[in-house]
Amino acid sequence: MQDLQELLELAISTAEVAAVMLVDKRPADLGVAYTKSSSTDVVTEMDRASERLIVDRIRAARPGDAFLGEEGGETGGSSGVRWIIDPIDGTVNYLYDLPDWAVSIAAEVDGEVLVGVVAVPMRGELYTAARGQGSHLVRVDGSIRQLRCNTGVPLDQALIATGFGYAAELRARQAEALLRVLPRVRDIRRGGSAAADLCSVAAGRVDAYYESGPKIWDFAAGALIVQEAGGSVGGLHGAPPSAGLTMAAAPDLFAPLHDLLDEAGAASG
Ligand code: IPD
Repeated sequence: MQDLQELLELAISTAEVAAVMLVDKRPADLGVAYTKSSSTDVVTEMDRASERLIVDRIRAARPGDAFLGEEGGETGGSSGVRWIIDPIDGTVNYLYDLPDWAVSIAAEVDGEVLVGVVAVPMRGELYTAARGQGSHLVRVDGSIRQLRCNTGVPLDQALIATGFGYAAELRARQAEALLRVLPRVRDIRRGGSAAADLCSVAAGRVDAYYESGPKIWDFAAGALIVQEAGGSVGGLHGAPPSAGLTMAAAPDLFAPLHDLLDEAGAASG
């Protein structure tokens, strides 16, 4: 039996240390270290430094745990706990010194995400959730607010966050789906960090989020934060959130959004 409080505190303190490092040590001349799936899928030296810091810090406290990191991939462990890490979610924003980037850390116990923490350092915000204990926004001034998704929003008045992948073919399909979605909703936002977008759903700053193509490290922590704020998270036809399609909204908006995205062909793969 894992102590959720211990996992949550470790995730919080580690996200805070990584956030400070990323703000304080961001080189003025930061460039692209290398690209991954396409020329637009960039990695900076700071993505790697952040992931090293996060993994080293957690491993020092809990040597038996496994890891799945955006940059470092999978490392095995025997404790039943796996940490899912995006060391900078919104790398393109970080590269350009735009404020919406995040550090995302989730702890999965026996295959279920039970703890999620997302730091959005340039907003001075830390989002936290533990399964069954609600989700909270901790501000840099120390204030804490319990989060609730917006409810009672009809689809045609919903402000919806989305994101785009890096492959040209995926982007073309996302643009086609967007043509069908945009006329049917209040408006669309593309913030540049899936983790921060999910936290915005939990905080009621947008009504919903959807994206085809996000990876588990983009949404693992944010999905729990939405669920613990009363929201629903999933894919099409009862599937779990995945790279095919990840949607998040209050339960009463989830069903009409699901049907619109299904009709619009928003899922990939
Ligand atoms: C990306 C961001 C972006 C989303 C992409 C992600 P990264 O994560 O979350 O908002 O649209 O799908 O890959 O690459 O900056 O960690």
